[in-house]
Formats: sequence, C-alpha cells, structure tokens
Amino acid sequence: MDWKPLLDAAFAARRNAHAPYSGFKVGAALLCEDGTIVAGCNVENRSYGLTICAERNAITTAAATGHRRFRAVAIVADSDPLTPPCGMCRESLQEFCDDLPILLANLRGEQRETTLRVIFPEPFVFAPPAG
Ligand code: THU
Repeated sequence: MDWKPLLDAAFAARRNAHAPYSGFKVGAALLCEDGTIVAGCNVENRSYGLTICAERNAITTAAATGHRRFRAVAIVADSDPLTPPCGMCRESLQEFCDDLPILLANLRGEQRETTLRVIFPEPFVFAPPAG
C-alpha cells in the first residue's frame, strides 16, 4: 500500500479546515474503489453541534460524486497521540466498506496503521424481523 498520495491529500485538505472554535484541524482522504482520492476537512459551526468531521466530510463528498466503495483512508491531525476517527465517523465509514486500512498521521511525522475492524469490531446491524 502506497500511502503517500492519500497522506498528501489528507494534509492538503487539513489546511482547508474551518476550526475556529476548537482550533483542532483535521484532514481525511479516502481511496475509492476506482483509485479516485476524495478528501475532506472538519468544518465547525458556531452552534457547535452542526460541526462535521473531516472523515464524514470526505465520505459525503465521495458519495455525492458517485463513489460508494472505499479501499483505504488516511487521517491527519496535529495531535499526540494520533487521532483515530470518532465513533460517528467509524459508523459512517462502515456504511461503505466491510473493512478498511486506516493510516493515522500527525504533523511530527508519526504514523500508525490500523483497520476499521480493529477500532470498530462490532458494527450496527440493520436487521428488522421479517413481517
Ligand atoms: N474531528 C474530526 O474532524 N474527526 C474526528 O474523527 C474527531 C473530531 C474534529 C471535529 C471538531 O471540529 C474537532 O475535530 C474537535 O473535536
């Protein structure tokens, strides 16, 4: 897995983060099934609750441009320890893949690879009873 293009896209997206309230900028980049890279940043809102995370921004942008299957995601933040996706973003990633390699990175050059299955071992199953 060559993470460099994804990492570059996540770093570039992070620079567009709108984070005047937390000051915590995040960038995420998805590798879609056909090789397209779609990136997102966190966009905060004065009402706080309307804030969208970088990962979900990338996911909704990917969906809106016709990409529904993902092969990998890179996430960048200026944090120590590294920042894994929040619970809501884990569930949102799960919607579009069974498992997913994840690269976490910070601005000091630290990186760690994990997978969605490792950090989100028991996803919600939508299985209403028949009838
Ligand atoms: N944030 C993300 O972008 N991704 C996550 O997985 C966790 C948190 C953002 C939301 C908010 O703008 C800032 O980080 C602080 O929580």
